[in-house]
Amino acid sequence: MLTPPTREFDFNQQDFEKIRKLIYDYAGIALSPAKHDMVYGRLAKRLRALNLKTFGDYLKVLERGDHREMELFTNSLTTNLTSFFREAHHFEILGDYLKANRQAGTLNLWCSASSTGEEPYSLAITACEAFDSLRPPVKIIATDLDTNVLEVAKAGIYAAEEVDKLGATRVKRFFTKHPTGKYQLVQELRDMIVFRKLNLIAPDWMIRGPFDAIFCRNVMIYFDKPTQLKILQRFAPLLKPEGLLYVGHSENLYHAADLFKLRGKTVYELARPGLSTPAVLR
Ligand SMILES: C[S@@+](CC[C@H](N)C(=O)[O-])C[C@H]1O[C@@H](n2cnc3c(N)ncnc32)[C@H](O)[C@@H]1O
Repeated sequence: MLTPPTREFDFNQQDFEKIRKLIYDYAGIALSPAKHDMVYGRLAKRLRALNLKTFGDYLKVLERGDHREMELFTNSLTTNLTSFFREAHHFEILGDYLKANRQAGTLNLWCSASSTGEEPYSLAITACEAFDSLRPPVKIIATDLDTNVLEVAKAGIYAAEEVDKLGATRVKRFFTKHPTGKYQLVQELRDMIVFRKLNLIAPDWMIRGPFDAIFCRNVMIYFDKPTQLKILQRFAPLLKPEGLLYVGHSENLYHAADLFKLRGKTVYELARPGLSTPAVLR
């Protein structure tokens, strides 16, 4: 029999089950039993920072209701992988929508799991290109549960390797060189987006629709089907009758067929547009 490798911190199955329950109850994130090592790796730095010896001691800190530690715990367990113009076809569809609705006044977009900001800035660039202006009539709200990524997103500073992939024309038009050698989004683009913390499973989102588009990409995969359905039920009345919901390439809304129907390429429209209620606060 193989001897398990010696670990810096004591982490038993009961600790893992408690952590699974905590992150599920707080963020809706359903960690599979296979994530034992991932959880250890992600949280070990928190134990080190707090000078604790065991996960049992760390759980006591969380169970005491330490809000700041709960935030850092959550930030450690979220997965934030993203990139500019990820699933590029979505931005072509959005650009066409914005052009077709250019007479409609201000257009409102919600990026509901915005991570480090590449996704909402891709929305902003798409809007600037659709209207050929750095001040298009488009407002973007970008939200995420993870407070670390929101800070990165607000700063709008990205590595040259990442930004260069957008091509010279976009780099020249939408970025300035930052003293660190990285690139920063120009002020006009940063001003188009309001970033704020929002937990998709919180009972009150305090967000005002109706939206022309809701981007909810590559986050539903972390939730179980009942949680997904509850969120989708709350998205539906926040969309304009002609508005579109964008989900990730590996996500589908078959279980919410009475709410959304596929328009194509993981873009959904309301199944019953007449029933959407405008200007609701959820
Ligand atoms: C893999 S990233 C996806 C980023 C981006 N939407 C994309 O597709 O490139 C998932 C994001 O969802 C966020 N997230 C996880 N649970 C959440 C929740 N309950 N409410 C809001 N955001 C959440 C994470 O913090 C993370 O930034």
